[in-house]
Amino acid sequence: DMGGHDTYMHKEISEQADAVDRVLRGRIDEKFSTVHLGGLNLDAREARGIRRVKILGCGTSYHAGLIGASLIEGLARIPADSEPASEFRYRNPVVDPDTLYIAVSQSGETYDVLAAVQELKRKGARVLGVVNVVGSAIAREADGGVYVHAGPEVCVVSTKCFTNTVVAFALLALHLGRIRDLSVADGKRIIEGLRRLPGQIQEILESEEDIKKLAAEYANAKSMMFIGRVRGYPVALEASLKLKEISYIHAEAYPASELKHGPLALIEPAMPTVAIVPNDSLLEKNRAAMEEIKARSGRILAVAHQEQEKADHTIIVPKNEDELDPILMGIPLQLLAYHTALALGRDIDKPRNLAKSVTVE
Ligand code: F6R
Repeated sequence: DMGGHDTYMHKEISEQADAVDRVLRGRIDEKFSTVHLGGLNLDAREARGIRRVKILGCGTSYHAGLIGASLIEGLARIPADSEPASEFRYRNPVVDPDTLYIAVSQSGETYDVLAAVQELKRKGARVLGVVNVVGSAIAREADGGVYVHAGPEVCVVSTKCFTNTVVAFALLALHLGRIRDLSVADGKRIIEGLRRLPGQIQEILESEEDIKKLAAEYANAKSMMFIGRVRGYPVALEASLKLKEISYIHAEAYPASELKHGPLALIEPAMPTVAIVPNDSLLEKNRAAMEEIKARSGRILAVAHQEQEKADHTIIVPKNEDELDPILMGIPLQLLAYHTALALGRDIDKPRNLAKSVTVE
């Protein structure tokens, strides 16, 4: 049942404020400025012993893992990174007893992720799951984990599960941080930020008509560049993937500073750039990157917290805490991909060549 929407994708994008509300519900502990995660299976002493976090997933879940890694590294100060599960399992990785492994999967059935988990378990590693589907194969195989509670996702491409997965990582990072060195004040700051998310998501969704107009401006592009820096880079990767999957427009995502090391050669009016430009300590650096693009007659659509003069268009999103901004900046770009695909007459819920869960190697 699409509940009055024309596609499942639109329905699922529209459900995100409620979905985020659900992943937060019952988990926040105001007294200790932390969160409780019932199924984690990791006591405080074990949490303090973690020396490294390795996150594994595929596609959109890998991108959610990249943001998850920066949340864990930022809030819990544990070195963390995310890697495609398939790459990990084929390169005979060193499996280290002090590393916490986290498998991320909406469906909980993606074969490359499941196989990585099984290999890790066989070698005695501790593996947690960040999974949407309760009781799925990866959830069962993991030692514990965090359910994402996004509700069923029918559209082949992931939207609300991506957002909820990132919020689940924020909860995990806060939990680990408050066991380690994150202060009460910072814990409180993040909790207040989390509580603002559903309202801010709703606010972004209400600007859909404006985003639809922008999509019409850019739908004739043959190829698009997405750039972001540090926290903005995974947002660029995910937005680029979403556009490719449903509109079939070729798109590339690059860290903003890598442009000058090669991809600037591609910039011309027919290849517009979407720039992720949060109001954080990197704002001036991002403005400089936009200037380089303008100097090559590139068109720019910025996603920012305030109007960007260097850009041809700006989508303004509400500001949250720096750590949580990527969650909000991804949402208008889901709508941009959606309306671009719609303008091009694509079969949005069932893009060609793709399946909802990839249970083969
Ligand atoms: C993209 C998309 C895919 C999945 C990937 C992993 O929109 O949906 O990239 O994210 O196939 O799927 P899960 O998360 O079920 O393991």
